[in-house]
Amino acid sequence: MTQISHDRLLIIDFGSQVTQLIARRLRELNVYCEIHPYQNVDETFLKTFSPKAVIFSGGPDSVVREGSPRPPKAVYDLGVPILGICYGQQVMMQDLGGTVEAGESHTAEFGRAYVTPADQRIDLLAGWFLEEREQVWMSHGDHVSKLAPGFEVYGTSPGAPFAITADLSRNFFAVQFHPEVHHTPNGATLYENFVRLAGFTGDWTMSAYRDEMVKSIREQVGDAKVICALSGGVDSSVAAALIHEAIGENLTCVFVDHGLLRLNEAEEVVGMFRDHMNLSVIHAQEQELFLGELEGVSDPETKRKIIGRLFIDVFQKYADQIEGAEFLAQGTLYPDVIESVSFSGGPSVTIKSHHNVGGLPEKMGLKLVEPLRELFKDEVRALGRDLGLPASFIGRHPFPGPGLAIRCPGEITREKLEILRKADAVYIDQIRKHDLYDEIWQAFAAILPMRTVGVMGDGRTYDYALALRAVTSVDGMTADYYPFSHEFLGETSTRIINEVKGVNRVFYDCTSKPPGTIELE
Ligand code: XMP
Repeated sequence: MTQISHDRLLIIDFGSQVTQLIARRLRELNVYCEIHPYQNVDETFLKTFSPKAVIFSGGPDSVVREGSPRPPKAVYDLGVPILGICYGQQVMMQDLGGTVEAGESHTAEFGRAYVTPADQRIDLLAGWFLEEREQVWMSHGDHVSKLAPGFEVYGTSPGAPFAITADLSRNFFAVQFHPEVHHTPNGATLYENFVRLAGFTGDWTMSAYRDEMVKSIREQVGDAKVICALSGGVDSSVAAALIHEAIGENLTCVFVDHGLLRLNEAEEVVGMFRDHMNLSVIHAQEQELFLGELEGVSDPETKRKIIGRLFIDVFQKYADQIEGAEFLAQGTLYPDVIESVSFSGGPSVTIKSHHNVGGLPEKMGLKLVEPLRELFKDEVRALGRDLGLPASFIGRHPFPGPGLAIRCPGEITREKLEILRKADAVYIDQIRKHDLYDEIWQAFAAILPMRTVGVMGDGRTYDYALALRAVTSVDGMTADYYPFSHEFLGETSTRIINEVKGVNRVFYDCTSKPPGTIELE
């Protein structure tokens, strides 16, 4: 459990695939909340956590099943408001003396549904039912068939006569649908009403967090030295800036240049942190080492393994030169930390597995400093802005640890990397000029392992072909290709072929993920 001095809301997770979204909606309201799996929440935990309100998430189990997940009974005696969602509603009803019936096909409800109000309006529903009915997202097999004593109905849908229920005397609320998903368009209002009636003041802001974290990093680290692998990505950059604010020159960053970076990237990152932010940054120039070991290698997995291994070796080599280093800083985020019982697992964990310096702390006997462990990505961005990192830096598209290596399918050569760097820069410049950068999750050029015949001026060319990729995504787990206009694609292709020697053909990749992945390798 984290030591945070803000008002706290506890989300008890029963394994819904969308539990994280509840936390996001609340954080957007400047409410500090933590998700904990139901197995970890007992009476002692509740006392220590001391929540100002509790939310029960949805979940895939059936409360009718013997041994299905439950919260500790003590939660109902805390005297704080509780909101139960879907499975959470059913749990609450059954725990408090109501009845839940197992699902049959005619009572199950999946997808979009419409809730209509009862006569009496309650505070939880302020701003709801401005139209006659409210669209919500349902996903339930079981349903409540008899309310627990003290509960009344405040909204119904065709498949859920008890869609919105409450015991106003205890501030217990229970809904059958999922207010946290986008398909319940007015869901955020419901959460806002809930936290307001629970007395939250919205004291969770990034500048308050920054002050708190600076204090806590100082306490944790004392006079010891901290090292940080700076990649230039948002997470490691914000972590470094925050730790620097706390301990100044006792932080040393290592920026590993593996020769697989984008045009001017090393200069920009090192320049910004060293010259503008006054951080101590070691620019590890290890291009020869990486490109040498990658020579002649074309298998994607082998490439990744070589890069991962060398990265750790190199980082360790430079870190060994920093006397008295006791801590390693990492930009771990909250989604990586949540011990969710969610059946979907934690997506971000997989995404980052190649990238962080996992295994290093144990190997080098270092302790970890992870000042972003409580934050979601958008909060990290807000914190970065608060710390004075330029907006263009904060909003940068993700860039993979193995860099251009996985955008150069087949064998990597210096010539191909040179072409790729230039073409990618033109492509991104086009995207920025057309003001599309922030709409896109990630965009890049890849150089294909083939040459094609073309004609330029009066001569025949036999040059490389490039693939352009741009996707929209929320978390990188799934993605859609970005629907550029034909004008944009035509103009970009012309610019790349005119401005980058060695390219005579440009393709646009319109594969989604799945079935494709975002990167080509
Ligand atoms: P894929 O290609 O798996 O990419 O659809 C999903 C997201 O992860 C990034 N990615 C990586 N990031 N190290 C990283 O730090 C890696 O090895 C790696 N491989 C893919 C990719 O850029 C995209 O944002």
